[in-house]
Formats: sequence, structure tokens, C-alpha cells
Amino acid sequence: MSKTKILYQCQSCGYATPKWLGKCPDCGEWNSFVEEARVAKIKGQKTAQPVVLSEIAPSSDSRFSTGIKELDRTLGGGVVLGSVVLVGGDPGIGKSTLILQSLNGLTKLGKVLYVSGEESPEQVKLRAERLQIASDKIILLPETSLEGIISVAQDINPQVIVIDSIQTIFSLELTSAPGSVSQIRECATKLMFLAKKHAVPLFIIGHVTKEGAIAGPKVLEHIVDTVLYFEGDRGSPFRIIRAVKNRFGPANEIGVFEMQESGLKEVDNPSQLFLSERPLDVSGSVVTVSMEGTRPLLVEIQALVTASNFGVPRRTALGVDYNRINLLIAVLDKRIGMQLGGMDIFVNVVGGLKIDEPAIDLGIIAAIASSFKNTVIAHGTFTFGEIGLSGEVRAIGQAETRIKEAAKLGFKKGIVPASNAQKLDGHDVEIIGVKNVEEAIEILFY
Ligand code: TYD
Ligand code: MG
Repeated sequence: MSKTKILYQCQSCGYATPKWLGKCPDCGEWNSFVEEARVAKIKGQKTAQPVVLSEIAPSSDSRFSTGIKELDRTLGGGVVLGSVVLVGGDPGIGKSTLILQSLNGLTKLGKVLYVSGEESPEQVKLRAERLQIASDKIILLPETSLEGIISVAQDINPQVIVIDSIQTIFSLELTSAPGSVSQIRECATKLMFLAKKHAVPLFIIGHVTKEGAIAGPKVLEHIVDTVLYFEGDRGSPFRIIRAVKNRFGPANEIGVFEMQESGLKEVDNPSQLFLSERPLDVSGSVVTVSMEGTRPLLVEIQALVTASNFGVPRRTALGVDYNRINLLIAVLDKRIGMQLGGMDIFVNVVGGLKIDEPAIDLGIIAAIASSFKNTVIAHGTFTFGEIGLSGEVRAIGQAETRIKEAAKLGFKKGIVPASNAQKLDGHDVEIIGVKNVEEAIEILFY
């Protein structure tokens, strides 16, 4: 028995309703509802058997290297059999390139089925030649129907499946267009079942839509095991992939690449890279240390403070949270008495990195103060620490690791939270602990 059920689904968040609505009650988007018909199957379903946790046989950690160290680390040490990895990013950022490059390593597992819904096999071939990927184990499938893909996969029994991209794939069971929320969700779910059943890794490539979320707003994130996301803009040659979610490893781990003629090249020492173009002896620039996953990264924060020509001063934040900047500006205003009210303030994390760790607060404060005072911060100095609303500098995690990384790159002096400083000893770096913003500014500039 089956019957067709009509549903209206929000294309922005996936909210479903039996009646058409002008505004989505869930995400507030206007005119986002699209009719979706689906055949509901109601007949008897199999239920899973409950098992006692302690009686489950431990499975060995079956990870495989993609042959790209930076990609392996982002995945938590290689790709896990039967895992579903979503690779998201802006169009043209390098998703197809990265996955194609990893196929050299992945073909060690066996046959790879590369479903290309966007490019013809000739185009893929051309690119593969450029990337020096050649293997008779890579099978290209220019197909966009889900049912077609599943039947081919069952025929040739691949050991790795790549879907490029999920927005082009559609299921014949649904009436909506490829790329719609229900299509993306349905296709990804069916493909995931296939991957889990045969224990093959599945890579799903998804474009970020203009709202800034993967594949019809984040609808896939909870389905997949791992979400890798490209950061950095297309203008810069650097590409950062970040594990936004990972069921098989630490989240927030990043891999750093440089886009070259012959594809993406791994960057071995990202700290050095991010600091390589740092202007010395210029005000408004400071180095801070951020933990990205398990790796400490030295980054340069730049600030520019100029008198505003308009009634309402501009505040721009690139790579850091806008609200955080406003908060820190308010702290400087209130606790130090810095007159920032009539100033335009721009803050930028160099290299296209996005950082949401409060440990860089003190770096942001230092950069803004340096630009405001037009006073240079000595280039062998770094700083980190979280700032509270009353201007106190709070302790942060992994201070030791951060300081070691700074020392490795030749930094001589660190201004860090006082409570962190107490527990540190024996470094080549001069460590100065500060309790609040006043102390930090005092040490940085006088
Ligand atoms: P691509 O992987 O096609 O992006 P996506 O799949 O995310 O849409 O990357 C395309 C861009 O990368 C394109 O602008 C050209 C550039 N590129 C290189 O610079 N060198 C290369 O070797 C390759 C293959 C691409
Ligand atoms: Mg592509």
C-alpha cells in the first residue's frame, strides 16, 4: 500500500508543513516553501535487535590514508571505512581538486567510483592528467539519478564512492528539483545507507549556497559523519580545510594547502606561512597563537583605527566574530579610557583563517590599541588570553603548547594571562603574566 502525500518544505531550513506558507515559522525566510510530493511506504518495517554494550566485539580502527597528510589529519588520522565525509566550500575553491588528488591514495583500497554530475568524463580526465592521477581503478560515472548511481554501485562493487556534487543528484521518487532540500537529504541518506552497508567510505561534495551553509542550508551536517569545510577566499592561494564536525576524530582540526598549477600542495609549517608577509615595525599588527584542533598556529592580527567621517562609525571584522570585536572595543573604551567612539575600526586575521577562539582576545585588543596609539609592538612579541567584561585577562587552555610553537618560530617575549604564567617554567621565551587589560597595555606600550 502506498499513497502520495503532498508536503511543503522550506528550502532554507527544511521545515515541512501540509499547507503552503509565505514565511517559514522556523527560520523566518520568506517565500521559501516548495511543494514536495513523496510516496510514503507504510508496510511492515524490520526493527533492529538491541545489544548489550559490553558484549559488542571491538572493531579494529580501520583507517586508510588518503596519501595526503594534511587531509588525513583533518579526518582524524585517515579515512574510516563506511564513513560519510561531506566536503563543503564555495564553488571553485578546490573541492573536486582535493578529492581527485586523494584518489591516488584511496585506490589502494580498491576500485573508486567517481560520480561526476557536474563535469564530463573528458573534463575530469583533463584535470586528472594535470594532477598526475592515473589509475585503472578509478571509474567515472557521469550520472545524476540516484537510482542509477546505486544500481551501478551494486554492479561494480567499488571500495570508495565520490559524489561530485550532491546538488546535481536527484531521486526519481521525489518531484522536486535537484538541489532542493528534500532531494539533497533523500539522496545523501540513501547513499549513506549504501556506504554503511558495504563499509565503503563515501565522499559527498557540496557547494555552499549564498546563505553560507552547505547544500541547501546545513541539511546534511547531521546525516554525515564528518564535515570538512574550505576556508579562505579564492583570491588567495591558500586553502584551509577544517573539520567542522567529526565522529571519528577531533573537531576543528585544520589542513593547510596552497593552490598551485599542479593542484593543491600541502603546507608543512602553516605558522611560518601565515607570518611570512608580516610587515615589521608597523602599528596595528600583533602575533597571537590560536589552537586549531590539536595544532597551535601563529597568526597575525591586524587592526586599523581611523577617525570616522560619518555619524555612525564603521566596524569591520574579517576572520573574527563581529560581536566579539564590539565587546573588546567596549572594554578598551571603558577600562582604558581609549576614545574609540568616533573611530572606524577594521580587524583582520591574515591568511583567510577564521578563528572563534576567545584566546585571541588579547591579540585583538593589542592590535586595536597599537593602531590607535600608532605605536609598534616589538616584532619578537606575541600575546594571547581571553578578556572578560570587566577587563580581566582569563586563563586559557594549552598555554604551554602555544608558547612552544612561538618559541620554535623565534619569538622572544610572550604576554599571557597571569594564571597561565604561574604554571609555566623553563622556556627560552620571556613570559610576562598580566591580570587585566590595563597591565597588558602598560607592558605592550610603555
Ligand atoms: P575545483 O576543484 O574545480 O573547485 P570546486 O570543485 O570546489 O568547484 O577548483 C577549481 C579551481 O582551482 C579553478 O579556479 C582552477 C584552480 N586550479 C588550479 O589552480 N590548479 C590546478 O591544478 C587545478 C586542478 C585547479
Ligand atoms: Mg567541482
